[in-house]
Amino acid sequence: MRVKTLCFVGILAIGFLFPRLGSTQDPTTIEQLGKELFFDKISQPSRMSCSSCHSQKMGWTGQTAGINVHGSVFRGARPQRFGNRKPPSAAYATFSPIFHFDLVRRRFVGGNFWDGRATGEVLGNPSADQALGPFLNQVEQNMTDMATVIDHVARSEYARLFDQVWGRGSLDYDPDIPATVETVYDRIGLSIATFEASSEVNQFSSQFDAYWTSSLAAGDDPEDIGLGRGDKQVLDPQNILNEQEFDGLIEFGKFCARCHVSHRPGPGGVAPLFTSFGYSNIGVPKNPDNPFYDMDLVFLDDGTPINPLGDAYIDYGLGDFLRTRVEWEAMAFENDGKFKIPTLRNVDRRIGKGVPKAYMHNGVFKSLKEVVQFYNSRDVPQEGWAPPEVDRNVSRAVLAGVPMGNLELSEEQEDAIVAFMKTLSDGYQIRNNRR
Ligand code: HEC
Ligand code: HEC
Repeated sequence: MRVKTLCFVGILAIGFLFPRLGSTQDPTTIEQLGKELFFDKISQPSRMSCSSCHSQKMGWTGQTAGINVHGSVFRGARPQRFGNRKPPSAAYATFSPIFHFDLVRRRFVGGNFWDGRATGEVLGNPSADQALGPFLNQVEQNMTDMATVIDHVARSEYARLFDQVWGRGSLDYDPDIPATVETVYDRIGLSIATFEASSEVNQFSSQFDAYWTSSLAAGDDPEDIGLGRGDKQVLDPQNILNEQEFDGLIEFGKFCARCHVSHRPGPGGVAPLFTSFGYSNIGVPKNPDNPFYDMDLVFLDDGTPINPLGDAYIDYGLGDFLRTRVEWEAMAFENDGKFKIPTLRNVDRRIGKGVPKAYMHNGVFKSLKEVVQFYNSRDVPQEGWAPPEVDRNVSRAVLAGVPMGNLELSEEQEDAIVAFMKTLSDGYQIRNNRR
């Protein structure tokens, strides 16, 4: 763990990272800088940017169809190299609290990544910590070291933005003093996270947001709005959701909202984020097409295989992260197989109708219908779902008396939940305005 060197960076972070609402403001200079960094191909060889795996029009996840239909893991800048997981959305991630153990609810919360290991301890925000990783990761952007990244930025056209935001000479470092390199590198992470916290990335402009806002304005109770609890005419006076979408919201409220929170505002009063930022093992099976299983034959720069275990690899998620930390090691076993509850915002967003997406940490599921079928019938033996990747700690109880994995939803109810999830794609208001 890198110890934070300069505390002023942390103080600045609080000011910069606090997200602004609405989607009409002009970007600030630091947001613009973060955006340049996000879309710049800073990699070796030079072909890959953050957006290669997090494309806005795919809901900030990866857009290559051939990858999404199979392994769902995106190749690195060195194209034979693959990591182990599917890219989650990079949007709405800045709202995640610093990774911690919630003493009251006895569970881990917060952080970025499927296992929370971008904790936020370094720069005061999980997404800023996260942004330090991909450039140097040998299965991602594969840059040699921090100084190489900084030198690239210093030569770029947007280097002047760096001076404007962080002061003249703020890209300078002394190669013999590591702390000076880290300080500059941290500024890169903080700038990216500020872009990720901007209203361009976190738009809150979905059909659901239009429903939420109009219902709140009509004086309805947030819990009722987010669970679809009550009369549609009262909750949705402007008729923003159709009947099927509203029916889907009702079922969603019963079976999904406990984890994918739809009925409580997010930090600072923003509309619901469709995650509690907690962790759970919902029993997702292995994705047999995951290219990581072949990474026993592909090597890192030091000659070690990317995945020494080959086919025998099991992704223990949160448990394996906890094993790396003395203070949490003892709780690793009871958290094996748990993954971060992802936001469902933009879960259906894609570059065009029928363009494939993949779901879950390993992308094993290929449609929202399949996801809902899984929740509905995971524990019905005749349905023949493959066994969970990690069979301990599998979440069984949804709400008192309502089992998970055998929800007894009808075909229509499944379809309604899918229709509801499709209302979570940003861009609804924008589209409407153009009409
Ligand atoms: C080669 C593909 C790839 C590239 C390039 C890439 N990412 Fe990711 N990103 C991923 C994967 C895979 C994960 C999940 C990894 C894990 O959980 O272990 C991820 C996770 C994230 C998350 C966490 C979201 C959350 O809710 O936890 C954010 C934010 C993110 N990436 C932003 C970025 C930024 C910023 C860059 C560029 C500096 C970047 N990514 C470059 C593949 C990529
Ligand atoms: C006990 C908590 C919990 C409940 C209840 C729950 N989910 Fe999830 N959901 C998760 C977790 C954890 C993941 C990620 C699991 C993984 O990758 O292994 C997930 C993943 C998903 C994904 C994939 C998102 C992506 O970006 O890959 C969708 C879609 C989804 N859930 C929809 C639903 C729906 C619909 C319901 C209700 C029928 C529901 N969830 C109920 C915890 C929950």
